Amino acid sequence: MQIEQPFELVLFGGLGDLALRKLFPALYLLELDKRLPQGRIIAIGRSDLDLKAVVSKIKQAVFDQVNADHQCEMSWQSLIARINYVCVDVQNAKAYQALTLELDQQCPNRLFYFATASFLYADIAKNLEANGLIHKASKVVLEKPIGHDLASAQAINKSVAEYFDESQIYRIDHYLGKETVQNLMVLRFANSIFESQWDQKNIDHIQISISESLGVEKRAGFYEQVGAFRDMMQNHLLQLLCIVAMEPPAKMEPDAVRDEKVKVIKALRPIEGKDIHDNVIRGQYGHGVSEGVPVPRYRDEKGVDVKSHTETFVAMKVEIENWRWAGVPFYLRTGKRLAERACEIVVQFKEIPHSIFSMQHKETMANKLIFRLQPDEGIRLQLCEKKIGSGMKVRPMTLSLNPDNPSQDYMQIQGGQESSGNGVRVPEAYERLLFDALASNPTLFLRDDELMHAWDWVDPILAAWQDSDSAPEPYTAGSWGPAAATLLLAKDGRLWNENS
Ligand code: BG6
Repeated sequence: MQIEQPFELVLFGGLGDLALRKLFPALYLLELDKRLPQGRIIAIGRSDLDLKAVVSKIKQAVFDQVNADHQCEMSWQSLIARINYVCVDVQNAKAYQALTLELDQQCPNRLFYFATASFLYADIAKNLEANGLIHKASKVVLEKPIGHDLASAQAINKSVAEYFDESQIYRIDHYLGKETVQNLMVLRFANSIFESQWDQKNIDHIQISISESLGVEKRAGFYEQVGAFRDMMQNHLLQLLCIVAMEPPAKMEPDAVRDEKVKVIKALRPIEGKDIHDNVIRGQYGHGVSEGVPVPRYRDEKGVDVKSHTETFVAMKVEIENWRWAGVPFYLRTGKRLAERACEIVVQFKEIPHSIFSMQHKETMANKLIFRLQPDEGIRLQLCEKKIGSGMKVRPMTLSLNPDNPSQDYMQIQGGQESSGNGVRVPEAYERLLFDALASNPTLFLRDDELMHAWDWVDPILAAWQDSDSAPEPYTAGSWGPAAATLLLAKDGRLWNENS
């Protein structure tokens, strides 16, 4: 798939946290690999800065993120030659004149990227249209979370749809751009041995966990409004769930994949009323030690209300009501200031029905297939083997499914740019997705119905929390979250993977 050239990438929120930490490093890496054809990048921001100041800010951010092996002055120079900066008050239609002067009306490949708060999306789209900047071939990437509930998401969707057709809209969830997520699809749908085991007859339960050791950082303004459920659960974790649970699409084509994901979301058992208390745990970090350093509680972070009820942790038990998954719990968990940064999908198979060996802890010896998305990417299969020596003692053994480097548990990571065992750099998620959006490939982006069904399913949970006076359960920073999250599995006789 090629990017039509020349392209114009217009980045709203061009100096925001996302642009600096993820988008510009991704563009730099595309440049480093010479994957960007002729084209320009126009960053839009609120501050009246000159290009020199902007470029130095971007350079600092890029080189902070990219590991030393990939820092190349020549590639950086090629990237900045493409960058311009325009200061625009995005809610003021007249302010877009400065942007109009920057754009080439004949450009065949214009991509707008809305990396601002989503309540601004409608205004930005309207003002772009008022200034004649949206063409038939223009596309727009919308960052998550889109809205804060179903009604607001529908309103944003409706407004943006006045100016862009659904085929022009790319709703991004960067977890879908991670290499292991795509590998999960290949593993599932290109191997008969896994797919034939992939159901309630063989699988005991599935855990999907995204833990972060970082706290809220400098994003309190955003995070206080959003919380872990809207920031991570409603999108990243649900998307991972869809990829794990969906039926094989008939083709690797955008709508075929998205149709199957929608079916999973529509089959989720509603969690409402008393079920919310029993199946969803929310927590908020207290003081503690993270990576050896004492850290403050969430309520003492800069910009956070000292009485805040915003959750920084969510764990939940989810069920899918269809033939393949009936009775198989999916345990989802995410949180900030947890014991380590990791993202894992653990598929735990059923225990053997009867053991002829003396096995201690039979339940923890069940086979597991573990997809690790970060910090290192890779796949492991946990099996049992005979312990060398006399007798027939059984012990767990782990098979790494990374063909490049079977001796390593996982692929190796170096400062954010992972490389497989043979030294091939694994592309960053945003790198892949920016490329796909520029190349007009929507397969890994969300369709409107997918997003709406996701909001529809989470809305009762968010509404119940909003109406409740109770605060999220506190947990010590640097731990694995509140005790209630451990109990959520313990009451089903199960353990989170790190405890097993
Ligand atoms: C973003 C969230 O979508 O994902 C952040 O807004 C979170 O709060 C980030 O830190 C995690 O992404 P990754 O790829 O670093 O795991």
